[in-house]
Amino acid sequence: KQTIDSPIIIIGSGYGGAVSALRLCEAGKKVVLLEMGLNWEKSGIPFSNLLKPGQSSAWLRKKTIAPFMNIFSLTPFTGTLDRMEFDTINIWLGRGVGGGSLVNGGMAVTPKESYFKEVFPNLDAEKFYSHYFPLVQEELKVNIIDEKFLNDCPYYKFTRVGEEEAHKAGFKTMRVPNVYDFKYMEKEFRNEVPRSALNTEVIYGNNHGKNSLDKTYLKKALETGNLEILDLHCVDHIKLNDDKSYTLNVQQIDTSGKVIADKIFNCKKLILSAGTMGTLQLLLRSNAVNNLPVHEKIGKNWGNNGNFMTGRNWVKPLSGGTGSKQSTIPVGGIDNWDDKEHPFFTEIAPLPMGMDVATALYLLINRVNKKGEVGYDRINQKLILNWDESHTANMKENARYFIRKMNNANGGTRSHFLFNNGFGADICYHPLGGCVLGEATNEFGKLKDHENLYVLDGSLIPGTIGVNPFVTITAIAEYCIENLIRQNEFS
Ligand code: FDA
Repeated sequence: KQTIDSPIIIIGSGYGGAVSALRLCEAGKKVVLLEMGLNWEKSGIPFSNLLKPGQSSAWLRKKTIAPFMNIFSLTPFTGTLDRMEFDTINIWLGRGVGGGSLVNGGMAVTPKESYFKEVFPNLDAEKFYSHYFPLVQEELKVNIIDEKFLNDCPYYKFTRVGEEEAHKAGFKTMRVPNVYDFKYMEKEFRNEVPRSALNTEVIYGNNHGKNSLDKTYLKKALETGNLEILDLHCVDHIKLNDDKSYTLNVQQIDTSGKVIADKIFNCKKLILSAGTMGTLQLLLRSNAVNNLPVHEKIGKNWGNNGNFMTGRNWVKPLSGGTGSKQSTIPVGGIDNWDDKEHPFFTEIAPLPMGMDVATALYLLINRVNKKGEVGYDRINQKLILNWDESHTANMKENARYFIRKMNNANGGTRSHFLFNNGFGADICYHPLGGCVLGEATNEFGKLKDHENLYVLDGSLIPGTIGVNPFVTITAIAEYCIENLIRQNEFS
C-alpha cells in the first residue's frame, strides 16, 4: 500500500473544508484535501441538465435520484448527487470538488439574528452580523436579482405567481439572495452566453453562472500554491495512533466506482469536513472498526433543519399556470417565521419540467421541536437514524396550514402529483448537527477526547438554523478556523 505523510489533512471539499483550506493555506500551511467525488472542472466533463440526465446526475446509480420523476436510466458514474436512504427520511448530498455547492440551488440566506442567538446562545452574534456574515457573502459572491429583470423575464413567472398568491393569502414575501451570477443570467436570457439556469441546470451541477466553491474559496486556496486536492479519494476509516497522530485508510476509485488503489495517509492534524452525514459516518465507523474515541455527544442534537416539501396543483391554469419555462434558481421566499402558531420560512421553488404543469413547489423550513439522533449499526455497517413522524409533526401542521390558506385564497389543490398525500416529510436537503459546537467539540470545533482532530462543517449546527444553511456553515467555519489558527493549533 502506498503511504503518504502530510502534516494537515482535510476530508471533504464542501463549505467547511473549503474555508479551512483557504485560511490554512493563507497562513502558509501545506494542506492535503481528500475528496471522494470527482474534480469536475479538471475532468472537463459537462454537467447534465434536469431534462437529459447523464454522467453527473447520480453517485454510482443505475437510475436518477431526483426528488421526483425518476424515470431515467443511467450508467453508474461518480456523479454529483447522492442520496442516503433511511426508513422515514431520504437525505440528498453533493459529491465532487465543491461538495454541496455543486448541486445546491445557491440560495444564500443569512439567518434571522434572533434565531441565531437562540440556536447559538454562546456565540457573539454582534461579531457574526458585523463581520463573519458580510465576509462570507463577499467570498461566496452573493448577489440579488434585478427587480426589473425578475418582473419581465418569462422564466420567473413561477416566482411572480407565487408571490402574488402569497400576498393574496396574507403572507409576507422576501427576496432571496443567491450565489448564481444574475448578470450572467440576464446575458443568458439575451442569448449572449451559453445557458445554464435557463437551461434546467441545477441539482446535477451548473456549467455556467453559479459561483460554486471551486470558483471561490477553493480557487483562492489553490492559488496560494499550498493546497493539494486529491479527488476520487474516499476515506474509509481513521485510526488514532499512540503519538496522537492519525492514520487514514483511503480508497482511490475510478469514475465507475472501482477501487484502483488502497492508500494510507498519516497526518498530525486532521479536519473532518465531510458534511454532517459524512463526518458522522467517519467518526462512528472508525469507532466501530478500531475504537476511535467518540465523545458521548456525537450523533446527538441532529435535525433536518425543518425541511418539509409540499406543493399545490392547478395553480392558475386558466391564466397560463406557473410557466413552461422556469429558471432553476429560486429568488422568492415566504417569511412566516414570526407567526407564533405557525412559524416557517418557505422557498418558492421552481419546477422546471419543460412544460407547464400548473404546479407550485415549496420547500418549507421549520423549527425542529424534537431533535433526532444518529447512531451506527455495527452488523450492517451503516448509519442509523432515530427519526420518525413525531419529529416532523409540527412541520406537517405548518404545511397543512400554509396550503389550506393558499388554496382558500387562490384555488388549487394539495399536490398529489408530486407527493403521497401532498406532503414530502421524507425529503431532506439540509442535514445538520450531530457534532454540535461546544457540545461534542470545544468552542472552536476541536473534538472532545482528541488533541488533533477537528470538525468544521454542517454537523456543528444543532439541527436547525431557520433558513437555508450554507451561509451559516461558512460563517461558523470562518470563525472556528480563525480562532484555531490564532491559538496555534496548526503550528
Ligand atoms: P458538504 O456536504 O457540502 O461537503 C462534504 C464533502 O465531503 C462532499 O464533497 C463529500 O463528497 C465529501 N466526503 C464525504 N465523506 C467523505 C469521505 N469519507 N471521504 C472523502 N470525502 C468525503 N443550502 C443553502 O444554503 N442554499 C441552497 O439553496 C441549498 N440547496 C440545496 C439543494 C440540494 C439539492 C442539496 C442536496 C442541498 C442544498 N443545500 C442548500 C444544502 C447545502 O448544500 C449543504 O448544507 C452544504 O453543502 C453542507 O456543507 P458542508 O460543508 O457541511 O458539507
